[in-house]
Amino acid sequence: MNHPLPADSPDLEAHLNALLDKLTTQQKVRLLSGDSAWSLPAEPAIGLRSIVMSDGPSGVRGVSMDDRDPSASLPSATAVASTWDLDLVDRLGALIAAEARAKNVDIVLGPTVNLHRTPRGGRHFEAFSEDPWLSGRIGAAYVAAVQAHGVGATAKHYVANDSETERLTVDARVDERTLREVYLAPFERMVVEGGAWLVMSSYNQVNGATMSANPLLREPLKDEWGFDGAVVSDWTAVRDTVESAASGQDLVMPGPDTPWGDALVEAIRAGKVDQAAVDDKALRLLRLAARVGALDSVAPVATPPAPWQHDDIRSLLRQVAADAMVLVHNDGVLPIAADTAPRLAVIGHHARRGRNQGGGSAMVFPETVVAPLEGLRERYGADHVTYAPGLVPSAELVPFERGSVTDPVTGGAGIRVRYLDPQGTPFAEEVFPSGRFGWLGDERLARTATLQITAHYTPDCTGRHRLGFAGIGRATFRIDDRVLSTGPIAADSDDVLQAILNPPSRAFDVELEAGRPVEITLEFQPDLPGGFPLARLALGTEDVFGTPAEELAQAEALAAAADIAIVIVGTTETIESEGFDRPTLALPEGQDELVRRVLAVNPRTVVVVNSGGPVLMPWLRDAPATLLTWFPGQEFGAALADVLSGDREPGGRIPTTWPAAEADVPVWQVEPVDGRLEYTEGIHVGYREWLRRNPTGGPAPAIPFGHGLGYTTWEIAKPAVETASDGSVTLTVDVTNTGSRRGKHVAQAYLSRTEPSAIDRPACWLAGYALVHAEPGATVTARIDIEPRSFEHWSTDEHAWIREPGTFSIRVGAGVAELGAAVDIPAPRD
Ligand code: BGC
Repeated sequence: MNHPLPADSPDLEAHLNALLDKLTTQQKVRLLSGDSAWSLPAEPAIGLRSIVMSDGPSGVRGVSMDDRDPSASLPSATAVASTWDLDLVDRLGALIAAEARAKNVDIVLGPTVNLHRTPRGGRHFEAFSEDPWLSGRIGAAYVAAVQAHGVGATAKHYVANDSETERLTVDARVDERTLREVYLAPFERMVVEGGAWLVMSSYNQVNGATMSANPLLREPLKDEWGFDGAVVSDWTAVRDTVESAASGQDLVMPGPDTPWGDALVEAIRAGKVDQAAVDDKALRLLRLAARVGALDSVAPVATPPAPWQHDDIRSLLRQVAADAMVLVHNDGVLPIAADTAPRLAVIGHHARRGRNQGGGSAMVFPETVVAPLEGLRERYGADHVTYAPGLVPSAELVPFERGSVTDPVTGGAGIRVRYLDPQGTPFAEEVFPSGRFGWLGDERLARTATLQITAHYTPDCTGRHRLGFAGIGRATFRIDDRVLSTGPIAADSDDVLQAILNPPSRAFDVELEAGRPVEITLEFQPDLPGGFPLARLALGTEDVFGTPAEELAQAEALAAAADIAIVIVGTTETIESEGFDRPTLALPEGQDELVRRVLAVNPRTVVVVNSGGPVLMPWLRDAPATLLTWFPGQEFGAALADVLSGDREPGGRIPTTWPAAEADVPVWQVEPVDGRLEYTEGIHVGYREWLRRNPTGGPAPAIPFGHGLGYTTWEIAKPAVETASDGSVTLTVDVTNTGSRRGKHVAQAYLSRTEPSAIDRPACWLAGYALVHAEPGATVTARIDIEPRSFEHWSTDEHAWIREPGTFSIRVGAGVAELGAAVDIPAPRD
């Protein structure tokens, strides 16, 4: 074909079927398994090139696992949800698509729309909300935005992968109504409204069947919702041939060795798997290829986006990060105007080593990260900002940053890595920009017995330093000619993939002289999982601190001497990341104590919390102001300075309830019993359960769902309600900025049932919202559309969505705990 067929041509399906007919069974089967860690195979016979995938979702890592190919680091999903701003999601989607194309990536493995069923979920930061409707809205907007630029998005992890404990095998037991109304709902919206090209099946089981062979892949996903894209497995999730191939699972990742391949060809021959089922999978793959522009006979759906300018990336990420920060309360200490030249004491390890992103597969490698301390020094002047780490949460290896060490061979910036074969002969070498090293599916690693890594490090002060490394395997670590360690380092978790991605570290005290370089050498024999070339290593330093008493005393002294103290606390990689759940919601040891001590010496203290999900804040009532940053991406420090100084408003409204005490958390248990995790709370997830318990004297959360302050004040009037003939309801509501500066507000509409109902109902449920920006004194008349689905429930008798006649009521306000008067709405008729 000379002229490629337009992707939206009515002849496309016929064309794809014709291509399919040209393939043998073997060729079709080959298309369904990865040919590497991140790609699907090409098939020159039909003009199909290889399709490349990448994590996701808070940036696009690409196929490299270290700083060799840097990526923009976006705010975490919790932060994005916190903005409630679909226009920002749209712009982030455009950025993600541009990042993907710049790295030759066709498919981004995100967004994650599992729910915040419990705050203990280790991967909480990577998902949007505890509310299915809000998660679906934001997820669908993300999908549509990425795909509008011709890059595929992946709704993951389908479904009920809401916690990490025993995640590869756990059987989530969820009843039919709960599945439909809560856990499937965001996926439904991403498929039906967002038009997702891919869905990723999760590791876990649901109701006794593993998700990569679960009937839910056909019904409702494909048959009822009309999903015409491809179901890709989570990495290594497919562990059998026949069951998974006979199910709605379409693609198996990673490759090249998967349980499909020849075994599947054989199963088809033996009549164990239908040829038609395999044809359908291959057709879906071709449809996906057409969409992402991987078939030379079909024109791409969109012109590939141009790479973004560095400054444009930075300014969008800075805006989103600020717009996501949640100001929990403020006695007036904020904003801190820079023109008054205040003396600030910035306290906390996170001020220097803040967490811009969550760990695990979502991790990307940004070129630069603005640390909070750096951002504040920039905004307020370095001589107006003092710093002390205070009580340090836990020692962590900090990999050498770009430019901080030199290559012993050339003397230029970087670290030399030599690949040695089993005879000890080097067969390849390269210079890495930083002390982070990652290999996935790299054939050189498969041939390597030993990695020899060397760098020159020049200390900037004389005294005790801690140098070290991380990795799983056998290591010999030297400083100059001194061997500091030799021997094996084993994985510290049963989840092999996670253990490799977050390897254990070792660090050693050495006395060094300022300005005198030392040579650091790490000889490493990596343990490759099943021989697969996957490894992560690090080389770097650990911060050296005084005794806890000394550090605390210094923090107190600085805080006492300052006009305002800013104490920054948060979680660490070891307590909040992928692959495990959180045993406790408490901040790492010493952090609460640090906050208390600073509060005691400076009454004008702002507490900043840097975590991806909820933490306990026992000092909350005593703090003059508390600000949550989430994992705000690479512009962390710049955005924080914007918000604290008042250059921007903190725009976040909390998308998940934060508890005041662990005992109050509605769903605590994440440990399966005999492999099963019962979703006994049913539809009463998150704020729905908090509110259900409240009328009976239940505990109040620390931060109720939807809450968040800016720097102005608001009034939301009683809404006017109009019901259209199609059953949709429109609210019009006046939102007035009653304060003295321009601001953003989120007027949220919650439905509830006012009269007795034949079914168990949530206390109330989010059904719509309006995002308003207004000048001081201005009133904006906002429109909130409520869809017919918001009045429906899933009937387990009829296996369908139905609407119970009777009266519902709607309340609008600034969060579930800040709602105005109820307005009745009769259940809309069809
Ligand atoms: C995660 C997925 C991710 C995949 C590839 C898995 O462990 O669950 O979210 O996309 O790895 O990195």
